[in-house]
Amino acid sequence: MSVSQLILAVLVVGSICNAPRALGARELTDADTAARHETWMVEHGRTYKDEAEKARRLEIFRANAKLIDSFNAAGKHSYRLATNKFADLTNDEFRAARTGLRMPEAAAGARSGRFRYENFSLADAPPSMDWRKLGAVTGVKDQESCGSCWAFSAVAAVESLNKLRTGRLVSLSEQELVDCDVTRDDQGCDGGYMNDAFTFIARRGGLAAESTYPYRGKDGPCRRSAAAQRAASIGGHEDVPRDNEAALMAAVAHQPVSVAVDAGGDVFQFYDGGVIDGRCGTEMNHAVTAVGYGTARDGTKYWLMKNSWGKSWGEQGYVRIRRGSRGEGVCGLAKMPSYPV
Ligand SMILES: *[C@@H]1O[C@H](CO)[C@@H](O)[C@H](O)[C@H]1NC(C)=O
Repeated sequence: MSVSQLILAVLVVGSICNAPRALGARELTDADTAARHETWMVEHGRTYKDEAEKARRLEIFRANAKLIDSFNAAGKHSYRLATNKFADLTNDEFRAARTGLRMPEAAAGARSGRFRYENFSLADAPPSMDWRKLGAVTGVKDQESCGSCWAFSAVAAVESLNKLRTGRLVSLSEQELVDCDVTRDDQGCDGGYMNDAFTFIARRGGLAAESTYPYRGKDGPCRRSAAAQRAASIGGHEDVPRDNEAALMAAVAHQPVSVAVDAGGDVFQFYDGGVIDGRCGTEMNHAVTAVGYGTARDGTKYWLMKNSWGKSWGEQGYVRIRRGSRGEGVCGLAKMPSYPV
């Protein structure tokens, strides 16, 4: 059974909000972990097809909970992990089901061309930025078990640009990209690349609204009549110069930006809140959207990223990642940002 089948097989039995149990650093007994897994199943509406599957998932949950508890107990991190909705998945399963960046070999190297914010002085940038507060960001969405992060990342950037240009915030269709943009590196739930999505939208003369062409979380035939009802359009895209967080800040001060990251590790799988400052590589496998930046109370500078794993993940669906490092940036965030124009 594949991961996507497994997750589709999960029956939603409603969700009960239990207060998280205080666990501390003590070793958990087998009975403790089994009880914690039961509570977690209720909280997340998770059921398994049989006892064997449940036993297998309990073992994965046990290993994950141990890692999460010892990470949090160490207490010297700028972010927390939690037994969130991905706590019964192995990291391989998580990565296969929830990421989906696929890009041309040359993409990471070829970061040239016009960058319209090149002469913008950062002295003129606001010290913090949150495009949500300006009403330019739609609600958090959920790609489900489909490698369509690329579509969500691109669509979020286009939704915001459309709001800035027209004054209207319209939720746009990721499913149209999944179904209809199937050339080059964009292969629906098997992954894709934001710049190819921007090119597709520009060539087609726009993208349909979410309400016209709703998300289904799986590949399907292109619905041409729905796709023909364009709700917003762009002219193309530009790249932010690579390994340059100052340039990224100049861009984000003007509009939300699509950002590729390495989200394949346990940091993203179990992220609960705070500012991620490492424990990830720069092997680009996921895409998010930078919708702001700021400085935490303890002085840590961060990027505010919109993710597409639902509102129950991270900080109501968002993640903060440390800003102001050199080179490729934390989790590779400065390697290949781009934005629609
Ligand atoms: C930035 O300034 C330089 C020098 O004045 C100019 O040649 C270039 O076109 C400007 N770039 C943009 C994007 O306006």
